[in-house]
Amino acid sequence: MEQTFIALKPDAVQRGYIGQIIERFERKGFKLAGMKLMHVSRELAERHYQEHSQKPFFGGLVSFITSGPIVAMVWEGDNVVESARKMMGATNPKDALPGTIRGDFSVDLGRNIIHGSDSVESAKREISIFFSPDEILTGWTREADKWVYEALVKQTAAVS
Ligand code: RTP
Ligand code: MG
Repeated sequence: MEQTFIALKPDAVQRGYIGQIIERFERKGFKLAGMKLMHVSRELAERHYQEHSQKPFFGGLVSFITSGPIVAMVWEGDNVVESARKMMGATNPKDALPGTIRGDFSVDLGRNIIHGSDSVESAKREISIFFSPDEILTGWTREADKWVYEALVKQTAAVS
């Protein structure tokens, strides 16, 4: 199943939005495969945001992401990378529609609450730098999944 890396940035933690944001991913039907509250080191921040290392905002971005705890998560589901980006909304909260996470919880580009992988390849890279394999639980069965995915019911019917 496809996975994405989601991080609730220090502003989300400081403002007390951890529960409300996680609730949106659960409500959608995605499955949690890994989660931890952690401080991001400068070295990890620079690796994570290496694609932006030449941008003028890089220094501020690294300072911000290392300024307090984040909640790092792996979410699983069909098309989860693209769907999570849609749920997050535009990078700049000024452009993020109401109903999206950034649209509902933030106003400033440099304090936009949440990170989500922008492709399946980015997700694999980001998950591997934030989590060790034993911190990701892919084998557990969530009973509700047969109410989320039509194909799971059809498979069950076919073998019975
Ligand atoms: P993210 O990586 O955090 O999920 O956000 P994104 O893909 O939507 O945006 P990206 O272009 O990857 O930018 C990463 C983060 O850098 C900050 N940013 N600041 N001052 C600026 O011009 C600027 N541009 C981007 C934002 O916090 C953005 O989420
Ligand atoms: Mg990005």
